[in-house]
Amino acid sequence: MTQKLLITGAAQLITMAGHSTKPAVREAMSELSIIENGALYMEDGIIVEVGSDEEISGKYGDSVSPEEHIDATGKVVAPGLIDPHTHLVHAGTRENEYAMRLKGKTYMEIMEAGGGIHSTTRSTQEASHEELYYQSKKRLDQFLIHGVTTIEAKSGYGLTLEHEMKQLEVAKQLGNDHPIDLVSTFMGAHAIPMDEKETPDVFVDRVINEMIPEVAKRNLATFNDVFCERGVFTPEQSRRILEAGKEHGLIPKIHADEIEPYAGAELAASVGAISADHLLRASEQGIKDMAEAGVVGVLLPGTAFFLMAEFAQARKMIDSGVAVALSTDANPGSSPTISLPFIMNLGCLNMGMTPEEVITATTINAAHAIGCAEEAGSLEKGKKADVTIFDIPNYLFLSYQYGMNHVETVIKAGVPRVVGGQLV
Ligand code: NIG
Ligand code: FE
Repeated sequence: MTQKLLITGAAQLITMAGHSTKPAVREAMSELSIIENGALYMEDGIIVEVGSDEEISGKYGDSVSPEEHIDATGKVVAPGLIDPHTHLVHAGTRENEYAMRLKGKTYMEIMEAGGGIHSTTRSTQEASHEELYYQSKKRLDQFLIHGVTTIEAKSGYGLTLEHEMKQLEVAKQLGNDHPIDLVSTFMGAHAIPMDEKETPDVFVDRVINEMIPEVAKRNLATFNDVFCERGVFTPEQSRRILEAGKEHGLIPKIHADEIEPYAGAELAASVGAISADHLLRASEQGIKDMAEAGVVGVLLPGTAFFLMAEFAQARKMIDSGVAVALSTDANPGSSPTISLPFIMNLGCLNMGMTPEEVITATTINAAHAIGCAEEAGSLEKGKKADVTIFDIPNYLFLSYQYGMNHVETVIKAGVPRVVGGQLV
């Protein structure tokens, strides 16, 4: 039997149409392609038609039952949000380090003393597959309640072959079991293990010779990411790791210029990365290189907010032609949140983005950052029926009221998964 769903009467239907083949840049980041009083019809998880309420209701209204009809009168209907950078699969929390940072310790000092990423690595190594699955699934449910229908998830808290594979296997199982679509990234090069500090290249060699081939063989990830930062992986080590991934079919991503300028943005452009992420301290040259090479800039203002650091220069990047996406960076150390709507607030208030640009950055450009823009990120015929309905009269409310969740309904592949703000 055909599974049908009709949404009618949307005060604003944000389609984001027209950017599926290339990310939106410059002025195009402000084009939301809104249909006022819009409607949308879906069948078997795919969008069949998008248009005015009059047209779509007239055409499909009689063929659906009351259960197959959602009245969105007075509300905003948008593509399901996409979070292109998360550390979803991990065990444990780091509230003690947060308290230490409030007293003046820095993120890098804590990490160098064996806390930070190392602390979460210990908890993640100790956790069983089932424990990791349970903790991560709870977070995934929260993402869904906040309007997200696709996320990227990284490994990087295993740091050994066995435990990196465990994280990726958990992500794979969650991708199969949970309504949210999950795109996996291998990030074995997230930190140099504490007991290998003196011989970092031995660890780099292991990432290259043991871990990457195994990830590729078991088809456990699409992307390969590295934390290129002073005191972590150098640009040279990062390049070797990203090039090695490419040889095994893994597309490069990079944590670049987060704490210090380190030519990470330049490296992203030169290795042909799909995205460079963080970029708080990216150089002028790096921004220029990214725009030229078409590297998506994934900005994570939750991290700057939580680390009390300088925000990335989103305005400058957009004006220079970089396609900007936004993400939570959800992780227990530098950005313990799952709220992409809050990230939109920060994008406007702390990075000079407009309310239109932050929507583009969490839908179609986010899809481009993880290579899924052909099937997600906009409401267009033939795309996945991933839709979020916000109980607000216009889209400005998304970045205007903060710290609240306006999501009323989330439809994933044509099936309502959140109704009245609750999981169903
Ligand atoms: O994206 N910068 C490196 N990795 C994460 C933080 C991970 C952690 O602190 O646990 C980030 O900020
Ligand atoms: Fe990150």
